[in-house]
Amino acid sequence: MALRKILNDNHPVLRSPAQEVKKINSGVLRLLDDMIETMRDADGVGLAANQVGVPKRLLVASAGEDEVYELINPYCENEEGEEVSIEGCLSVPGYYGEVPRSGKIVVNALNREGEKIRLEVEGLQARILQHEMDHLEGILFTDKAVRMVDPEELKSEDSKSEDSKSEENN
Ligand code: NI
Repeated sequence: MALRKILNDNHPVLRSPAQEVKKINSGVLRLLDDMIETMRDADGVGLAANQVGVPKRLLVASAGEDEVYELINPYCENEEGEEVSIEGCLSVPGYYGEVPRSGKIVVNALNREGEKIRLEVEGLQARILQHEMDHLEGILFTDKAVRMVDPEELKSEDSKSEDSKSEENN
């Protein structure tokens, strides 16, 4: 495994829709492994392939505890509810904003074995997956933020709710 360089938001690959993965070969599996290592190294909770310069529809995301989602060609089948919470992004370092997201989603994708999987997720996990699927469309959280949040404000919120992790970087 190897760390990959995370690109910043001025890079054109972050602003273009990523392409479908046609074949899950050793290069794709190595990329998934590297993306997980890169996400963990950066203390992030999600990473899309175009953030490391590969314009393919792949994402990794924290699924709580030590579990990780590895999704190939993911798409949302159903969305319910709306929740507004604070997000950051490894490609937009130092910025945070309040972003409305669906509270509960159903995601279809392939796993690394090429098997179809269907996930029903809500709350933070749903938010992370929506953020990462947006990356695959060339969309950043700053496009959808209803309000940008001063990092100082974030510190005071931290002390209020220690278990709130939605301000983590995706
Ligand atoms: Ni991001």
